[in-house]
Amino acid sequence: MATNNNCALSIRKGAGRVSEIEQRQSLSSLKGSIGMAHTRWATHGGVTDKNAHPHASCRELVAVIHNGIIENYLPLKKDLLARGHRFRSETDTEVIAHLVEDEYKRLRDPLRATMAATKKLKGQYAIAVMFQDRPDLMVGARKDAPLIVGVGDRKMFLASDVLAFLGHTDRTIFLDNYETVELKKDKVRILSRNGKEVKRKPTQVAWELGDLSKSDFTHYTLKEINEQPRTVVSAATQDVEKVEEFARAIRKAKSLYITASGTSYHAGLLMKFRLNKEARIRADAVVAGELKEHSGFLGKGSVLVTLSQSGETADLMEAVKEAKKRGAKVYSIVNAVGSSLARESDGVLLLNCGPEVGVAATKSFTAQVVVTNMVVDAVLGKRRSNGVKELADAVAEALKCDQQIRNLVWEYKDRSDFYFVARGYESPVALEGALKLKELSYIHAEGMAASELKHGTIALIEKGTPVVVLSSSGESHADSLSSAEELRARGADVIGISDVKDEVYRHYIQVPRVQPKFTPVVEAVPLQLLAYHMAVARRNDPDYPRNLAKSVTVK
Ligand code: F6R
Repeated sequence: MATNNNCALSIRKGAGRVSEIEQRQSLSSLKGSIGMAHTRWATHGGVTDKNAHPHASCRELVAVIHNGIIENYLPLKKDLLARGHRFRSETDTEVIAHLVEDEYKRLRDPLRATMAATKKLKGQYAIAVMFQDRPDLMVGARKDAPLIVGVGDRKMFLASDVLAFLGHTDRTIFLDNYETVELKKDKVRILSRNGKEVKRKPTQVAWELGDLSKSDFTHYTLKEINEQPRTVVSAATQDVEKVEEFARAIRKAKSLYITASGTSYHAGLLMKFRLNKEARIRADAVVAGELKEHSGFLGKGSVLVTLSQSGETADLMEAVKEAKKRGAKVYSIVNAVGSSLARESDGVLLLNCGPEVGVAATKSFTAQVVVTNMVVDAVLGKRRSNGVKELADAVAEALKCDQQIRNLVWEYKDRSDFYFVARGYESPVALEGALKLKELSYIHAEGMAASELKHGTIALIEKGTPVVVLSSSGESHADSLSSAEELRARGADVIGISDVKDEVYRHYIQVPRVQPKFTPVVEAVPLQLLAYHMAVARRNDPDYPRNLAKSVTVK
């Protein structure tokens, strides 16, 4: 963290959790009229005190925080060293502080100096810059990483995410690529790439501060899991014409790709399944970071469907860039209004599930399943996508397994491996169950199509290995039960999640019967609770799992 108090720049930083650094360095006692803070997600240089942000120029005239990667930092650093600059860290970020210092000495204008310095950078960045002799202002700049201005009452904010300042203001200005901004307490100046002043009025974000409290829950993650009876309904509140437009684009597409990362990708797999099987439309679902390698059929006339909670995932934004370069249209399903993805897309449907604070995606996943189903229904010519009210009741019912899950956690909390298997439309839910457990509990988990077990993984099953089998009634039910039998025969403790009980399960978690297209929603609920309670039982912080960030804005 850095502050400027009457032209005295103070920097305090360190490696560790924010609360630990606060204890060691008493960050909150820093005084000043402006300040900035950053939690670093290491890319260049280890996780050490000296590599923590902010970074300062040689004489501490300039301090910088940075989200992103500077690809050409080595030649820049070499040049700066040759010109007598001294470096204190191994980071790519530090070059920015030195470059801005040089330009500031030359131009004496913080905004123009920052702009001149960023022109030398290759890569991705969102930066905030403070100047020792200017306690009245802060400068920001962005390229391919989010940066948003919050306009308050005689106070200004700069952040990667609206959530960072929503407690103070809901009036925002979204910056575009290559823009540089100067914030004073009652004035915002924006320069475009070519140095021209840009006039942009603040917009009001629809999210409310109330959405940001934990209410009576101990963690955001638990609150967000419990919000799902409501959020599946709000997700379904869509402008019918927009859904139709989305569906028309899919029907007309010469080739169709669905792309996303992590949990959002799992929702994309479900969408692909229905498009293939029910609408007989060929779609490729590819993780965003790999899209380029699979994009042989992406070009003019193609459609890229993207799914994202944050709308800022770097891998996804790269995929969008690639698609647009090739002349394809981009249609997105996104939660964050005004996010880069929402702004770059040709068509957008919002998830309407409110801010998701917990790092693990929960309610955004079930909202994605609802919205993608509406789109697929529209592709199939069904004008009204029904059944959401019943779904809300079913989700509320599914949440009642909480105590049962806690008991299960008690029995399995010291295990080192978990498996999640399913067939057909439920397979992506098995992947999702494993991902949730890994990221929150740090237990090794694998999710897969049950049919794949016999091709290798079954060798790992021994007496007492916990295996979650998703096997709701439907086309795959009998096959899933056969897999469960095979697992039991090898000693596995089969945990069945299904709407029908079977004696093959050592533990049975009942979920309500819903329309098949919504099965993933009700099955996701116990999986989310399992991961959450496991994290708590193992003394992990479920809201902020180690090594992870809520929006992954670096490639
Ligand atoms: C898992 C999780 C991540 C995200 C992924 C994509 O719980 O949260 O796997 O799903 O980073 O993020 P968005 O949806 O913001 O693009």
